[in-house]
Amino acid sequence: MSIKEKIAHSMEFPPPTPQPNVYPLSWESHTQKMEEIWEASQREYWDPAKLPWDTFDVNSYSWEEREAIAYWWTLLSVFDASAPPVFAAAMIKTYEAHEEDAVRRCFFSVTRDEQNHEQLCGMAITRLLDHPDPLTYEPKTELGKAAQKNAKWLYYNGGRYWDGYKQAVPRYSLAVLFSSFLMGEIAAATIFHQMAAGCKEPVFKKGFASIGRDEGRHMAICMTLMERDYPKLPQEDREVITKQIRAGYLFLSAVLFEPPEDFWDLPSDFISNQRKIEAVARTAGFHIPDYDTKKQNWREAILNLKGVLDKFDIPFPAIPEVDISGQEVNDVHMEDIIPVF
Ligand SMILES: [Fe+2]
Ligand SMILES: [Fe+2]
Repeated sequence: MSIKEKIAHSMEFPPPTPQPNVYPLSWESHTQKMEEIWEASQREYWDPAKLPWDTFDVNSYSWEEREAIAYWWTLLSVFDASAPPVFAAAMIKTYEAHEEDAVRRCFFSVTRDEQNHEQLCGMAITRLLDHPDPLTYEPKTELGKAAQKNAKWLYYNGGRYWDGYKQAVPRYSLAVLFSSFLMGEIAAATIFHQMAAGCKEPVFKKGFASIGRDEGRHMAICMTLMERDYPKLPQEDREVITKQIRAGYLFLSAVLFEPPEDFWDLPSDFISNQRKIEAVARTAGFHIPDYDTKKQNWREAILNLKGVLDKFDIPFPAIPEVDISGQEVNDVHMEDIIPVF
């Protein structure tokens, strides 16, 4: 039947609308915890433009320091700048799936929060480099040149996962997507709380504290949905989740730890350059955890996640890089990635 063919004159009620239809005409509420998280997101909303930017004197830093700190924000942007479209796609899925009203609102709040995180990355980079784009910026120092080369490779790598993600969203249930999101949120909450605690510059300290609080809420959203859905999770979904956790480790290690060589396609001087850049940022009062602290933190975050998945009998992948044993998962590619920050 063509869409233009009118039927209303021939029957009293229309035929059922084919599903999934993007709009639910229902506002179901079954998960009280979700309502609480939504309310918190309304209360805790913040505006990156209203951070104390007037206290930030970029000229108190040398050009090397500016480029080093901007590099870290650029590294973060490789993850955070893709978060708004990634969560917007997940939000559309909550509508298609006719999720509970509060679940739809919570995914809206994550999309909105991630937009803020991305904005903050842009505000920091633009001020530090006096230029709105780290890839077209003209480096002032040798360190800045190395930083830009690294940034270009990170950008190239991150650019490979969007197509895979777009294919994954319709293919997997929300329950599977949550486990990947949770990985990103646990990682994000961990790093931002540390950055906030150690950072000397007030505007960054405040920004990190706000992002960390947002990420904690995002984590709670994922956990609440897992508690709702995982007791009845089908077997094939469990297997996908195990693989996604391993993929999430490989992907997020680039910002939480160091990018694993077999997964990221990076030049041989990438890691040594990054270590040099981070050391300069650290000395300038921009608190990036050192190698051992990063490793320890990442391990703890992953063990937290393992604790959650163990409860639901979902096999955990082996992550020997941080001394976690489990099921062997090989052959993970950038195209298989779901997790975001
Ligand atoms: Fe974020
Ligand atoms: Fe997040």
